[in-house]
Amino acid sequence: MTTPKLNLTDTAAAKLTVDALVVGTVQGSDGPELAVGAERVASAFSGDLGKVLSTLGATGKADEVVKLPAGDGLRADVLLAVGLGKPDANGQIGAEAVRRASGAAARSLAGVSHAATTLSALDLSAAVQGTVMGAYTFTAYKSDKGDDPVSKVDFVVDSAKDDTNKSALKGATAIGKAVTTARDLINTPPNDLFPASFAERAAELGKTAGLHVEVLDDDDLRKGGYGGVLGVGGGSTRTPRLVRMRHKGTKGSKKVALVGKGITFDTGGISIKPAANMEDMTSDMSGAAAIVASMVLAAELNFPLEITATIPMAENMPSGTAYRPGDVLTMYGGKTVEVLNTDAEGRLILADALVRACEDEPDYLVETATLTGAQLVALGTRTPGVLGSEEFRDRVASLSQGVGEGGWAMPMPEELRGELDSKLADLANITGNRWGGMLAAGVFLGEFVAEDVQWAHIDIAGPAWNTKGAWGYTGKGGTGVPVRTIGAVLADIAENG
Ligand code: BES
Ligand code: MN
Ligand code: ZN
Repeated sequence: MTTPKLNLTDTAAAKLTVDALVVGTVQGSDGPELAVGAERVASAFSGDLGKVLSTLGATGKADEVVKLPAGDGLRADVLLAVGLGKPDANGQIGAEAVRRASGAAARSLAGVSHAATTLSALDLSAAVQGTVMGAYTFTAYKSDKGDDPVSKVDFVVDSAKDDTNKSALKGATAIGKAVTTARDLINTPPNDLFPASFAERAAELGKTAGLHVEVLDDDDLRKGGYGGVLGVGGGSTRTPRLVRMRHKGTKGSKKVALVGKGITFDTGGISIKPAANMEDMTSDMSGAAAIVASMVLAAELNFPLEITATIPMAENMPSGTAYRPGDVLTMYGGKTVEVLNTDAEGRLILADALVRACEDEPDYLVETATLTGAQLVALGTRTPGVLGSEEFRDRVASLSQGVGEGGWAMPMPEELRGELDSKLADLANITGNRWGGMLAAGVFLGEFVAEDVQWAHIDIAGPAWNTKGAWGYTGKGGTGVPVRTIGAVLADIAENG
């Protein structure tokens, strides 16, 4: 992962000597309109820029990129007009539109050395985040790496010395980079990223960021009684791990626990998955990747919070040592679970982690996981489901919408608890039917969260992994969702308690 060099500039856009200059277009009622920030570019352009763009076929719709020679009036070589879509109900262009357009522009700028953007006139932070995320590529396993990402981007602002602008650049860069850190982990194939190597990479990232890191190996897990992680991880020759990372904020600050599902590959185990698309299960550690990246972000932005991450890592494989349907596992903390399907493994490793996380007596607990196919059925590929304590769940969902990740609150209907009753253990790991699978998984997790802890579970089965074409700032593969949601939740707790 290489991030472009990012700078603020208060030189007028028309006077910038760059390879490419980015302007925004808005989908107006009769054709494309130039966005705020493009005025001075348009007035210096030799010709009617709006008319030229329209003749070139531009409409201003999201993800549209139109390039043209910048001509005599400007010092740039090429103008890149990127669509922001339609204004919202209030006639405004929202931050997420700026993020996506900046991402689409950054993707289209691959191979270019020096670009400048006027999208920063709409929203500097969003333009920076979108640029960092959109410029991301993962070519570690390609012999021919293709064009390099754009190497330098200048953001046009009123004042480059202004402290608010400087801190916006710093904060937005850190958030964008955290997303790419998560993507790198997710995109690494499962033969290279398995529990031990994942734990090692997490420890390295954490220590570099100044976090305290502890890695429990399988011996430690046995001594500690982590029956869920050991049960799920037992089928693989690559033994499981549990990583703990700590950011020590100021004394007396709020305590936050973070937990993420780290299944480095999910075959389903003995309840094996069909072959079609099984390769997508390389992304089954996306929750864990998001938590590692969020911890690095927390250290970098030095949130005044005490944050502890508990990250279980295992590979779910079928073998002679694998756990079976019918097994009863004794989880960390002593609850017993009857395994009725070894493919419902995420909740088993998370159960151990949640109980361990609650021993630290956090005020809040945020957990995220590629937990259920039912999330995709209910909410589609891009909308995370948010479950948990009602008030905190709604707060997390609302913050998620605010940062453009679109988390949506989902209920945990009481009657589902009975469906998890087991004939011989405290509970079973699945219900006897396929209805409300995302909700049932949430109810299962809730059994392992201490009563007095405000908690939220974010199901990212769809949103974590993009199997379709690139759009906005999202390429193929790992998306980094919900790093920005967690970043926003931590910032909000730091500010409002
Ligand atoms: N990792 C999967 C969930 C998943 C499915 C993630 C599709 C991303 C895309 C999880 O471990 C799983 O297999 N869940 C089962 C649970 C079922 C057996 C109750 C599912 O959703 O089918
Ligand atoms: Mn599974
Ligand atoms: Zn899984």
